[in-house]
Amino acid sequence: MCGIFGCILKSGNAAPIIHKALKRLEYRGYDSVGEATIYEGKLLVKKDKGKIDEVHAAHNLDDLPGRIGLGHTRWATHGGPSETNAHPHGDCETQVMVVHNGIIENFLELKNELEEMGHVFKSKTDTEVISHIVEEELKEGCSLADAVRNAVEKLDGSYAIAVISNKEPDKIVCARKESPLVIGVANDAVYCASDIPAFLPLTNTAVIVEDGELVVLDDKGYEVRKISDRILVSREPTIIDWSPEMAEKQGYPHYMLKEIHEQPLCLRNTLRLQEQYLDLMTTFLDRAGEVFLVACGTSYHACLAASYIFSKLAMLATHPIIASEFVEQHGRAINIDSVLLAVSQSGETADTLEAVQCARERAATVLGLTNVIGSTLTRVARAYVCQQSRPEIGVAATKTFTSQLSVLSQLALRLAKKRGKVSHVEIEQLEEKLQQIPDIVERLLEAQEGQIKKLARKYRDKKCFFFLGRGISSSSALEGRLKLLEIAYAPAIAFPAGESKHGPISLIEPGFPVIFVCPRDGTHKTIRSNIMEMKARGASIIAVIEEGDEAIKGMADDYVEIPKGLPEVLSPIPYVIPLQLFAYYMATERGCDPDQPRNLAKSVTVK
Ligand code: G6P
Repeated sequence: MCGIFGCILKSGNAAPIIHKALKRLEYRGYDSVGEATIYEGKLLVKKDKGKIDEVHAAHNLDDLPGRIGLGHTRWATHGGPSETNAHPHGDCETQVMVVHNGIIENFLELKNELEEMGHVFKSKTDTEVISHIVEEELKEGCSLADAVRNAVEKLDGSYAIAVISNKEPDKIVCARKESPLVIGVANDAVYCASDIPAFLPLTNTAVIVEDGELVVLDDKGYEVRKISDRILVSREPTIIDWSPEMAEKQGYPHYMLKEIHEQPLCLRNTLRLQEQYLDLMTTFLDRAGEVFLVACGTSYHACLAASYIFSKLAMLATHPIIASEFVEQHGRAINIDSVLLAVSQSGETADTLEAVQCARERAATVLGLTNVIGSTLTRVARAYVCQQSRPEIGVAATKTFTSQLSVLSQLALRLAKKRGKVSHVEIEQLEEKLQQIPDIVERLLEAQEGQIKKLARKYRDKKCFFFLGRGISSSSALEGRLKLLEIAYAPAIAFPAGESKHGPISLIEPGFPVIFVCPRDGTHKTIRSNIMEMKARGASIIAVIEEGDEAIKGMADDYVEIPKGLPEVLSPIPYVIPLQLFAYYMATERGCDPDQPRNLAKSVTVK
């Protein structure tokens, strides 16, 4: 995932402005950076691997002439971080430069076609196909705007792109589908960017570009058209009254809340993974003598949920293991037939990497699921897949959990298909539901946030909380408890609900808050008994339930409803959302900073 920026100045050099704007977009990705300008009919480019400051120290990003240009800060998805994979990407003739944020799903097919036509690709990115298609269209005599429009019509997937060409050196053409794109308008300049903070110090006049629109920027300003029928769209600018700090968080008071709200988008991105990576991972899992799912923190909870999914769908028994225990617990038992699937948002967690190292030394196969391409995990894994959730800044992982679960569910589904363990009809239904999950999460966020805020106000002074769930929901309960204790400093206990009567129940006294995660799955009947046990001892019951679950509503003091019809294996994705919001609002109610909880770090690189 990446940040894009472009500008047309009436006078002066664009490069220093692009450089500063990229710094403001750096939170969107920072493994490589690049700029391109047009000067005296030529396209000039500077780009390299590394953070913006490192690349600037090596190449002086301010030192490019030209009043029109593009910039890009990258978060690798296709092709590791390198100079050639850094954006902007050109065509064969260096007539076109493209910056892109998003994922082109059909890039391999397009690349093959273009290579057959004689195009030579420099990078391993999906983006470069756009430059070569635009090149072809320009050869046919199209204007730059038509060339870009024809190019994007060939693309499947998501994109916000900006394109310049020395054939029409006074323009930037941009287009959007599912990745954010905004235009900034000033008296002496016009800008395009992935989001408002990029240009906010320069102008607070913004035009939001909608999906399926193409925008031409020039000295006169901006022109928006629909891509499908080229109809002109009239859109008045909006005046943005955010402070620069608020703008970085897109108007949310904290990164954590912004990231909770980004989940629908991230989940959509997880559905665009390249098939061949998933297939390769599935092949390794299928052949494995035994499979260990190894991780820390939130990533471990995703592994725990995944162990239920692999078992239920693919009849594969897996061992979810906390990474720091792996070497002691299983180190000597693993061998060439073992597969270790390491799950780590950062790809740098020391405990996870230690487990990986141990597995490699014993000739086991290491697979990776991470958010950071270019991280240590991607370098040492035999095969890996990206969780596609863009940089996560809040220390408490939120979108990490749901994105990892979406990817792990896809792996389990593929394995189920390969092994013929589940009927085609069931697989198709599950695939369909997985596609619907982003919309379900979106609706859930809209519908439930206000109510959860009220719940946090009601329970904010409670000293301790219980989180209980059965089956796959015990992983959601653990994750909800981790969120609450790490950011609201509320002592909290989580157990599989069945275990609560073997000890934890002794803590219950009147008014003790117990949060039950109870989708209507095979565990529903038993969890009702567990609720009764708690209620009989005076606990306050807060239940996350399926819409219309009257039986539990009747027992609960408070409840949050989740849409109906979700298969059990996918339920943790929506059911964890109210728990994330509850933790967030508990933290703010208790005066804690949810983004920077004391004593914690986002990436723990010590053992
Ligand atoms: C730290 C973070 C957690 C995270 C865990 C694992 O403890 O604070 O939010 O879940 O590390 O991180 P990883 O990058 O390996 O997923």
